[in-house]
Amino acid sequence: MPKISQKGTSMPESPIRKLVPYAEIAKKKGHKVYHLNIGQPDIKTPDVALNAVKNANIEILEYSHSAGFDSYREKLSAYYKNQNLPINKEDIIITTGGSEALLFALGSTMDVNDEIIIPEPFYANYNGFSVASGVKVVPVISNIDSGFALPPIEDFEKLITSKTKAILICNPGNPTGYLYSQDEINQLAAIVKKHDLFLIADEVYREFTYDGFKHHSIMNVSGLENYAIMIDSVSKRFSMCGARIGCIVSKNKEVMATAMKFAQARLSPPTYAQIASEAALETPQSYFDEVITEYKERRDILVNELNKIDGVKVAVPKGAFYCIAKLPIKNANDFAQWLLEKFDLNGETVMVAPAAGFYSSPNVGLDEVRIAYVLKKEDLIKSVEILREALNVYNK
Ligand SMILES: Cc1ncc(COP(=O)(O)O)c(C=O)c1O
Repeated sequence: MPKISQKGTSMPESPIRKLVPYAEIAKKKGHKVYHLNIGQPDIKTPDVALNAVKNANIEILEYSHSAGFDSYREKLSAYYKNQNLPINKEDIIITTGGSEALLFALGSTMDVNDEIIIPEPFYANYNGFSVASGVKVVPVISNIDSGFALPPIEDFEKLITSKTKAILICNPGNPTGYLYSQDEINQLAAIVKKHDLFLIADEVYREFTYDGFKHHSIMNVSGLENYAIMIDSVSKRFSMCGARIGCIVSKNKEVMATAMKFAQARLSPPTYAQIASEAALETPQSYFDEVITEYKERRDILVNELNKIDGVKVAVPKGAFYCIAKLPIKNANDFAQWLLEKFDLNGETVMVAPAAGFYSSPNVGLDEVRIAYVLKKEDLIKSVEILREALNVYNK
């Protein structure tokens, strides 16, 4: 039989999805499973986006421009400018999700065996995109005691080699919920300029910040124009994960010309989804206000309830809708599987994402899980109650 590629063999499994078969077994037994493991929001997609697709009168579902609809890029630029981000239409290429934007960013800036430094824990698919691009991830560890703040900049310095091409951050962070301060962004800006590296910022959760904390974009740092590459997406902003629309943004003309070649090779982003995404930009501010209030309340409930459990430690998220919780157990992977396979509280159980999959250093975060607060408040309360009881039984 012909052999599978090395690259294919090295592709990591998703830490979020690998427990799915056990969840299916639990459901077959008739158990209700609360999904704390996955970032699929239960928030309704804005009507304006759905109606635009319903009302579209298309006779030929043709390719669009490889950079995306001109009208969409124009409106997106206005949207960014409204958020004080000086982004022009030419600085934007529409992609099939933020996922493809990440692939274009890596493809445009990194060669095989080049190194990218990423603070961990990080969005697990960065591992997959890096393997797919032949790029080596060099993790720099952040920890729960500092709420997953930016590691000291000297830690980055120590890891920079002649192979280092970029630093990648996620802001606000999935899975940490950490939001970088202006000072932290400035430190990153200084180090990439000093060593001539790209700074790639995944800002797909930009709107989701709490407690009056403000998001600081890398697109707002003057002097960083040739270094900064921003990744964006409609998936979470408008609860449109299935649309598969995102974009890559940079003021660096060479980066954009290169990314455009990748965009041309895959022809175009999806047409109906661009219609929905363009219309979504008309979503009233009141929608975001309501959604953010809802997430903040969910976060508060989740963190408060978790803190009531003996031995549990949580880093309070300032943004996005995830948190990392340290549990009084040795192996979260085993615990997560056990929750699905062997445990129920009155016919109900929870599914969590073991955090080890969000680290690329081995044997780190083994006692941590990532929890997404994308469920209704009463379900979150129920879920933590199940978790508390489960810990009691598991640790007996
Ligand atoms: C941090 C981060 N970046 C990128 C993505 C990719 O999203 P999409 O391809 O749906 O835009 C996700 C999805 O969960 C994410 O959490």
